[in-house]
Amino acid sequence: MAPHKKINVTFLPDTRRVSVPHGVSLLEAVHRAGIVLPTRCGGKAGCLMCKVSIDPGESAALRPPSEAERRKLGSLLDQGVRLACQAAVWEDVSVHIPEDPLKAAVRRRLEAARRGEAEDLW
Ligand code: FES
Repeated sequence: MAPHKKINVTFLPDTRRVSVPHGVSLLEAVHRAGIVLPTRCGGKAGCLMCKVSIDPGESAALRPPSEAERRKLGSLLDQGVRLACQAAVWEDVSVHIPEDPLKAAVRRRLEAARRGEAEDLW
């Protein structure tokens, strides 16, 4: 691999793209893409607030999980979940950012309103 190879990371569902140096953490790539992903532990695999997911076929695009990440995520790893603070970017990859809980609640209410269930939810 070239020493200064740039890696293209695409964040979904908003399709934000950023180009970062090989080996940068996914959390750093998230920040460089201007995405807010709240965390509490300062990137020490302690808060689990930086969970993101990748498609199973792209698992080789990230550095394999460390022992700490394996302990924290357990079987979620098999579902493509990774800790952005622990996963380093090795190859071009698409990453799913979980929906903000507040946005998700608003979206669910809007969808319910469209279905005529608004009185039950507001
Ligand atoms: S930033 Fe806290 S677990 Fe990743």
